[in-house]
Amino acid sequence: RPGNQIIVEGRPYATDEWMNTPDTILSHVSRRLYLDENHPLAITRKLIESQFPGPVFGNYVEEDPIVTTEQNFDVLGFPPDHPGRSRTDTYYINEKTLLRTHTSAHQSAYFRRINSNEKIRPEEEGYTVTADVYRRDSIDRSHYPVFHQMEGARLWKRPRVDPLKHAAETASMIWKDVEKIPSHDVVVEDPNPTIHPERNPLQADHHSAEEVEAVAAHLKRSLERMVVKIFSEAAKAAKGSDAGQEPLKVRWVEAYFPFTSPSWELEVFWQGDWLEILGCGIIKQDLLINSDVPDRIGWAFGVGLERIAMLLFNIPDIRLFWSRDERFLSQFTAGKITRFEPFSKHPACYKDVAFWLRSATSSGGSAAGGVVPFHENDIMEIVRDVAGDLVEDVKLVDEFTHPKTGRKSLCYRINYRSLERTLTNKEVNELHEKVREKLVEKTGVELR
Ligand code: PHE
Repeated sequence: RPGNQIIVEGRPYATDEWMNTPDTILSHVSRRLYLDENHPLAITRKLIESQFPGPVFGNYVEEDPIVTTEQNFDVLGFPPDHPGRSRTDTYYINEKTLLRTHTSAHQSAYFRRINSNEKIRPEEEGYTVTADVYRRDSIDRSHYPVFHQMEGARLWKRPRVDPLKHAAETASMIWKDVEKIPSHDVVVEDPNPTIHPERNPLQADHHSAEEVEAVAAHLKRSLERMVVKIFSEAAKAAKGSDAGQEPLKVRWVEAYFPFTSPSWELEVFWQGDWLEILGCGIIKQDLLINSDVPDRIGWAFGVGLERIAMLLFNIPDIRLFWSRDERFLSQFTAGKITRFEPFSKHPACYKDVAFWLRSATSSGGSAAGGVVPFHENDIMEIVRDVAGDLVEDVKLVDEFTHPKTGRKSLCYRINYRSLERTLTNKEVNELHEKVREKLVEKTGVELR
């Protein structure tokens, strides 16, 4: 529909050749699962919010997922060539308008709010904000193109004039807040220095190391507490089963985000694997300056709710969150962490699709001998558009380059399985045939 208009939630948007958002994706906007108090995502939201209470924190939601490229990328310092901006990774409405890929799209607006009187309480120096976010991605039991994040941030005022000269005072003020965080007895691995000159630098123009040590300590202790709370709830719910019996182990690893420095990720050891739970860091001062709070220093974090809800409630497939089946919905109650009892698992039916990539020479392209760009996320989108939640996962099972012609062929295995009923052969064959047709139509590949 390039060059047309679409209406989302009653608001019109002009589309152009950047438009790559199917109606099936837009149809998720109105669900607002995080507001449905008996839904596991809302219960998870409330549990995390309880760790970031007033009067310092205001707890918010952002219902409208349509933002500008400015909000989602530019303001946050994403470089022009950042892969997250590409149409293979992100759902666009038009060149300047997209479905937010993270809650950080609202950071700047919330910082601005802290310096205004739109706050719930005047004492607010931080916030949490929960929202649905959208990313083109692979299909499997832990990835869905629409998911939910909660972002949190905490600021402190610094002396307006010469803040670096007063760094010791700022640091000691922040350390007093660190001391107020209740202690915990979880094993924490944190082998790296808070600041690493190359890998995880201090914003030396703006901050002193002693301030950053204090802010980092507050950030890390706050998030460790949050994780302790979540996992102790999970362990309580799992009593009697074998999950959550081992003592909790967490570790901090260095990370990179365009809008924080230094940055970290928190990982939790869960059922034999290190699981990445959240990203966080010291907010870039330029972002605070551009958001009308130049006299503050602070931290921010972002956490995915599905991953946490899946292990809290023992939910095995991310598609279940979108189920309207009473056998799913009736199992959850506001304020309670309970183990999901799976209803019977229906049989899977897999089908392969193999195809030759279009070579640039045969289509008159420019790169001699090269292939026309094909992105895996394009086949994922086609499968989602045709079969929606009837597909459990899609995997590349074979890759082959012809020794003489140099042509490349790929084979994907599509695993059809409904969460709610047994699919008929006829139904699966029809879906698969449609996937094959659309694949040719949209990407120009040649089926084998
Ligand atoms: N927005 C980041 C993401 O989606 C997470 C993040 C939030 C990191 C806030 C740092 C600070 O990966």
